[in-house]
Amino acid sequence: MNKFMLLILFIVALFCQNLGDKLIADDYKCSLPDVTSIDKKLDVGRFRADFAWVSEVKFPGLIGPMNERLICKIKCVDGNWVGPLCSPTLNGRFQPVLRECLYRHRNPLLSVTFRNGSVVVDTYFPHGAVLALRCKHFGLYKFAGESSLRCDNGEWSHKMPSCVPTSLITNYTGGAPPTIQYVVAAGSAVVESRGQLLVYPGSTLWLDCLWPRAPEQEPEWTWSHSGRHTAAWASDDGDTELHYRLALTRVTPRQSGNYTCTSPAASTHTISIKVVNIVCPPIDVLSPHVTQFAQGTRLGNAVHFSCQPGYHINGPTVVSCMGDGRWSSAPPTCEETLCPGLRASGPHVALLEYNASLGGRAVFACAWGYRLVGAPGLECEPGGRWSADAPRCIPIYCPDPSVPDRGRLVTAATTRDGKYPVGDLVVYACDDGYQVEGESSIVCTESGFWSHPPPFCVPPSEIRRADTIYVDNTTLVNFDEP
Ligand SMILES: *[C@@H]1O[C@H](CO)[C@@H](O)[C@H](O)[C@H]1NC(C)=O
Ligand SMILES: *[C@@H]1O[C@H](CO)[C@@H](O)[C@H](O)[C@H]1NC(C)=O
Ligand SMILES: *[C@@H]1O[C@H](CO)[C@@H](O)[C@H](O)[C@H]1NC(C)=O
Ligand SMILES: *[C@@H]1O[C@H](CO)[C@@H](O)[C@H](O)[C@H]1NC(C)=O
Repeated sequence: MNKFMLLILFIVALFCQNLGDKLIADDYKCSLPDVTSIDKKLDVGRFRADFAWVSEVKFPGLIGPMNERLICKIKCVDGNWVGPLCSPTLNGRFQPVLRECLYRHRNPLLSVTFRNGSVVVDTYFPHGAVLALRCKHFGLYKFAGESSLRCDNGEWSHKMPSCVPTSLITNYTGGAPPTIQYVVAAGSAVVESRGQLLVYPGSTLWLDCLWPRAPEQEPEWTWSHSGRHTAAWASDDGDTELHYRLALTRVTPRQSGNYTCTSPAASTHTISIKVVNIVCPPIDVLSPHVTQFAQGTRLGNAVHFSCQPGYHINGPTVVSCMGDGRWSSAPPTCEETLCPGLRASGPHVALLEYNASLGGRAVFACAWGYRLVGAPGLECEPGGRWSADAPRCIPIYCPDPSVPDRGRLVTAATTRDGKYPVGDLVVYACDDGYQVEGESSIVCTESGFWSHPPPFCVPPSEIRRADTIYVDNTTLVNFDEP
């Protein structure tokens, strides 16, 4: 049924360009346009035109489901006919007549593929696009509907299929179809994009139909080919009460076909198996530092990848040989694991050494007058983490200077909060009639202690010796020893 009928009546115009321009390369010429997909009865040959020299063909047509009368054109571009573009009038705007279809990603159980890629968001597809659909969880949901949908001028050829939960999901209640599980006992197999189970020849496969075991209540396995197989309750521990098993031993292509389990409640579930001799090319790992472990290159075989210490994987860790003879994706690369960038955590922190490679070190130091809190050196550990948080630098303060009896401080702390940072000078003076004994000025040192103990204030007779005394608010005078 071709809803879209394009009826070519006659070719009204041939726009001949480059006639006589013999320099045109053969590659860019178009051959006779193949319009059989549009109208089988149309014989373009009778126009006797040399299509090699025609660049555009216009024709009236009855287009689409509404049989609209439009002027259409096809164009020769680099040796291929493209189009048609159509317009209601000869001088109107020519545009594609075939509408796109919107795929709405609503059912998370459906796996939808277009060409090689899975479709996971709402997407518009052009006319003619074909989507392949299946249920994601092979055997766990029964696929109901058409496994391929074509976009036909704005509409999908069939309604969206659905995925019906099977017995394992419904706890064996209701009339749910039985769950089918497969076990590759030997060899290899893979589920391809249309939901078929592809099996490498010679493999041994178990098909388990899940249904509670009861006397006189056996499910039934049937298959579409004429070969013989035996089915029985599984003998493995834990499987004996639920798994009605069909064993396919050393399969051959003749055993390809549909396998159906019918439950005692007469619900059915069918899977399709194809035995095919497919081998993928040897996998080509270009990135250094990649370590691979390959089962082989046959259909269903997997290759596992890892990276050498100090590197992390960028891409899949496993790829499988698929039914189209290609690996499920390109091999990964290994990239050096670097620890995250470290920044000096304040204006007083300096990075003396910095190497973010695995095993590399970051070494910090503080500005003069500041003390490091935390580890002064960090190491980049496996997994790309630093061994500790970056340290901080905090100012070093000396304790508030004690004031001697009958004495006082004649300087104030230089900080706003009254603390004494490294380098602060404190100058003492004594009350009238007393004199300083000891250092009259002390300095806060980097150790967080004052350079000298505070002085005493003593009556003049008790002065033994003073190197320095305070004269006024600003001047220190040094006296030489008498
Ligand atoms: C699938 O992908 C391969 C390369 O990644 C490409 O050569 C091939 O044409 C694609 N097939 C389809 C149907 O798009
Ligand atoms: C099936 O049974 C399990 C455990 O008995 C329960 O947690 C789960 O909700 C049941 N599922 C349904 C769909 O009834
Ligand atoms: C298997 O089932 C599918 C879908 O129902 C059908 O199209 C196909 O012809 C069947 N194949 C055989 C060999 O019976
Ligand atoms: C960084 O550290 C790693 C591990 O110790 C070492 O192999 C590498 O040579 C260092 N890089 C530089 C630039 O020093």
